Amino acid sequence: MNKPRVFVTRIIPEAGLKMVLDASNAEVWPDELPPPRNILLEKVRGVVGLLPLLTDRIDGEVMDVAGNQLTIISNYAVGYDNIDVQAATDRGILVGNTPGAVTETTADLAFALLMAAARRLGEGIDYIRTDRWETFKPMELLGRDIHHATLGIIGMGRIGTEVARRANGFDMEVVYYNHHGRAEREETVGARMCSTLDELFEQADFISIHVPLTPETHHLINADALSKMKNTAILINAARGPVVDSDALYDALSAEKIAYAALDVTDPEPLPSDHKLMTLPNCLIVPHIGSASIATRSRMAVMAAENLLAGIRGQVPDHLVNPDVLPRRRQE
Ligand code: DGY
Repeated sequence: MNKPRVFVTRIIPEAGLKMVLDASNAEVWPDELPPPRNILLEKVRGVVGLLPLLTDRIDGEVMDVAGNQLTIISNYAVGYDNIDVQAATDRGILVGNTPGAVTETTADLAFALLMAAARRLGEGIDYIRTDRWETFKPMELLGRDIHHATLGIIGMGRIGTEVARRANGFDMEVVYYNHHGRAEREETVGARMCSTLDELFEQADFISIHVPLTPETHHLINADALSKMKNTAILINAARGPVVDSDALYDALSAEKIAYAALDVTDPEPLPSDHKLMTLPNCLIVPHIGSASIATRSRMAVMAAENLLAGIRGQVPDHLVNPDVLPRRRQE
C-alpha cells in the first residue's frame, strides 16, 4: 500500500523525523533556511500532511494548492500565528502544535534574559572583549537586584506560570495580568493578579511577556504602555516579536523611559544587524532560542510527528489547535 505523502519544511531532530520517515512517504526540505514561497507551493501539492515551522506562512493559498486530500498541518512550535487557523478550520483541516514540550525550557530562557538584563551581562562581556576592563571600579556596570524585586507577568499560561515559579526561588514578588482571569494562579504560584495592565505596569520592576500573538496582542506593548512603566523597568519578551512595537521600544529605551529590554523575539525576525535596536547598550537580543535545548527540540519533534501521524491516519491528534474542525474534518 502506498504510504501517504507529507512535506516537512526543515530537518527536525532525529527522534521525530524518523517517526515521520518510517510512517509516510515524506519529502524533507534539506536547507537550513525555509523553503521560498514558490517552492513551498510546489512541494505541498498532493500532500496529506504538512509539518511546517513557525517561519513558514501557511495560509489558505497553501492549503488550496495542496489540494482536498490535505488533512493535517502539524506545526513544529507551540505558537501557531504562522498558520491561518480559521482558513484550515473552514476547509476541514486539522491543525496541531507542541504545547507542554517547550514550557519549562522557554521559562528558563525568559528568566535567563531577566537575570542577564538586570546584571548587564551582555555589556560586561563586551567590556572584556573590547579591552575596557582596567580594574574593579565601585561605580561600573551597576545593575538592578533581582531578589525582592517585583516581577509582572503578562499572560499567566503554562510558560508564565513556570516563570513565576522561578521568580519564587529568587524571593521576588510576582504580579500578573491575564486577559481571561486565572485567579487560581494566586494560590498555585503565590502571585497576585492585577485587574488591569496599567496596575501591573505601575508595580513591576521586571515585565515578562507570555501571550500568544493574535490581533488583540499585536503591539500590546506600544508607546502608551511603555510610558506607563517605571523608568527603571526591565522588559523581557520571549513570546512573539510583534507583541512589542519595535519603534516605540527603541524610543523608550533611547530616551531612558524604561531601563532595559531583553528580547528573544523581535519584529522583524530575523532582526538585521544594522537595526536601530542593535545600537542600544540597554537592549539585549538573542535569536529566538527560547525552546533551544537538545531535549526540548527533540520532544517538540516527537510531538509534532505524533500529531502529524495521527492526522494522516484519520485520528484526532493529541494536541489539536482547532477542535471546531472536528464535525467537518477531512478524512483520507
Ligand atoms: C514556539 O514553540 O512557539 C517557539 O517560539 C519555538 O519553539
